[in-house]
Amino acid sequence: MKADEVLTAHHDVLRGLLRDLAETTADELERREQLRDRLLRELEIHTQIEDELFYPAVVDVSPLLSLAHAEHRQIDDQLATVMRTAPDDPEFVVEVRMLEKTLRHHTMEEEQRMFPQSHALGAERLEELGRQLEDRQRELTRSGGMRLMIRLKRAVLRLV
Ligand SMILES: [Fe+2]
Ligand SMILES: [Fe+2]
Repeated sequence: MKADEVLTAHHDVLRGLLRDLAETTADELERREQLRDRLLRELEIHTQIEDELFYPAVVDVSPLLSLAHAEHRQIDDQLATVMRTAPDDPEFVVEVRMLEKTLRHHTMEEEQRMFPQSHALGAERLEELGRQLEDRQRELTRSGGMRLMIRLKRAVLRLV
């Protein structure tokens, strides 16, 4: 798969998790916790593979990078708020929906503007980059370091 196809497939996962999370009710607390933890993990991985591999690769062909970095920080802040909100708090779904809105906007902008710009790299380079993204995504999914980082982050965000 080409880089933009790999990232779009992962966007579908992220959008699906956020939609499922927003549709949970206050009597499904365990499911809320599980979906939220999965969202934290997938969002960390997505942001990391883009920041590490995709954004540096498109720096010369896309003028949208500083905006995209700013949006990653905004998503990170809103995710922190979701992590800090108790799953039985009536505000929980409100916070999830705000994060969902920001993420939808950001992923659409990537898919409709940045990814078409990335096609200037050529099909071969995009395939190569796609393989690198998939390898890194797999590595991070399995990585003990990533699991530890997420556990720490979860603990810290809930304590603050
Ligand atoms: Fe992004
Ligand atoms: Fe993305």
